[in-house]
Amino acid sequence: MKHDTVTPYNTQEEKKEQVAKMFDNIANRYDLLNSILSLGIHKGWRKTCVNLLKTKQPKRILDVATGTADFAIECARLNPQLILGIDISDGMMQFGREKLVKLKLDSLITLKNGNAETFDMPDNSFDAIVVGFGVRNFQHLEKGLINLHRLLKPGGQLVILEFSYPKNFMIKAGYNFYFSYVTPVVGKIFSKDTRAYTYLTESVKAFPNNEKFTGILDEIGFKKTFFKSLSFGIAAIYYGEK
Ligand SMILES: C[S@@+](CC[C@H](N)C(=O)[O-])C[C@H]1O[C@@H](n2cnc3c(N)ncnc32)[C@H](O)[C@@H]1O
Repeated sequence: MKHDTVTPYNTQEEKKEQVAKMFDNIANRYDLLNSILSLGIHKGWRKTCVNLLKTKQPKRILDVATGTADFAIECARLNPQLILGIDISDGMMQFGREKLVKLKLDSLITLKNGNAETFDMPDNSFDAIVVGFGVRNFQHLEKGLINLHRLLKPGGQLVILEFSYPKNFMIKAGYNFYFSYVTPVVGKIFSKDTRAYTYLTESVKAFPNNEKFTGILDEIGFKKTFFKSLSFGIAAIYYGEK
């Protein structure tokens, strides 16, 4: 399926290069801006995601697009044997590693440079894979998801958290205002990157939402797929099993 390609800087560089550069640029402000712009709600969203993994007690977890490792850290309460976080931005992971040391989680959680689309480990390597606000940034969405399917063990769980688009028209009006005016301005002031938070708005709008996204997961071969809207549809969880 062809999707609109929205890139951070609209240059000739591949989307992957632009995305890595953008996250390197904003890495030192990423956690702060996450908390300001989502009013702290993003923490609860990750908790809800991790609760979906509880029943199967995954031993080996992959956190794709780990960034500053918040999702990996949340997964630690499942008591797995190992958590591996991969990301294409070393800048983001540098801040993640500092957090892991402070939380004494650096022996459980390892962060490594890796692209979701090409990350090369044997088939069936993980019991669970999580992706927080990452799939929207993939250069080739299906290619990345096919690779994640390959990496999951049969019966393994995929949980994706992503921004979404509310359906209720009142909420949508507030959401549009917030994402069009508040996010880009606050983002620009704090991150000093003029494009990062405009790209956020554009990429959320271009992303295949809700049923469209579970349809893609179905096509790739994921089973038991569903989505769950969070906070009036501002974000959504997408779930599938191999
Ligand atoms: C918005 S941050 C999310 C970080 C973290 N998962 C969280 O929940 O806060 C998106 C991250 O995705 C990473 N990313 C984008 N495309 C990627 C890809 N193809 N493979 C791995 N990481 C990717 C970026 O470098 C960035 O760190």
